[in-house]
Amino acid sequence: MTHARQHRIQVVAHRGASEEAPEHTLAAYRKAIEEGADALECDVRMTADGHLVCVHDRRVNRTSNGRGAVSALELAELAALDFGSWKTREAWSGRDEEPDWEHRPEDREETSVLTLERLLELVTGAGRRVELAIETKHPTRWAGQVEERLLVLLKRFGLDAPARPEDSQVRVMSFSARSLHRVRAAAPTLPTVYLMQFVSPRLRDGRLPAGIGIAGPSIRIVRNHPAYVERLKESGHQVHVWTVNEPEDVDLCVGLDVDAIITNRPRAVLDRLGR
Ligand code: G3P
Ligand code: CA
Repeated sequence: MTHARQHRIQVVAHRGASEEAPEHTLAAYRKAIEEGADALECDVRMTADGHLVCVHDRRVNRTSNGRGAVSALELAELAALDFGSWKTREAWSGRDEEPDWEHRPEDREETSVLTLERLLELVTGAGRRVELAIETKHPTRWAGQVEERLLVLLKRFGLDAPARPEDSQVRVMSFSARSLHRVRAAAPTLPTVYLMQFVSPRLRDGRLPAGIGIAGPSIRIVRNHPAYVERLKESGHQVHVWTVNEPEDVDLCVGLDVDAIITNRPRAVLDRLGR
């Protein structure tokens, strides 16, 4: 079943094509680009020696063959780890869907820790427009340093000061309004996305914290409170929903005319949208 869209919904690959390939690796992001994703999503954390790397969890235990907190490890230590072996066919066997991806340990870069710098190189060298939604994690741990370094890096790529937010190739997302306000103070035209796991009582009317243009509700919020999406839109906000993997949830998002669907399965969502 496909849908006639009211407007083009952006399909964002959550941690890359992370259902098929190991999340936050070059392999997963390359696959998402090949599959036609409009944008990529990544989480950023800062290493002990001040590098921004794309890792979701506070610790590397789940997604690598190492142990420890990202913030306690230096980039060289992270670079010695393998972020792909946990998602090999053997590790995945017995599940309904095996990863459509082959782990080649000799291909080191594909499954090494991914720096944000390398991801920006991938995005800017993709040969077509690919947007990047960067989520700041643990923004309190380093008291503003994550945002500061993020902006230095974006400036190096000429991505920190779009003429208008709607022209921007990059946006910054966070569950922390404070983190987004830090970004806005230094880069006022960079779009910001306020992520929500639940709707706080003071935001029920559809307004977001001052200056933040885009709402990022979870699919659970959207399922339980579809009228809230209407209120956000009436307040002039774009709505980017995460993490939308089930066909019926894609249909719900289409029906509500959201602006972006963030998914672990970009190809399946594109198929559902008839693209
Ligand atoms: O895209 C937003 C979503 O990624 C937030 O949740 O835990 O997957 O980072 P999480
Ligand atoms: Ca995220």
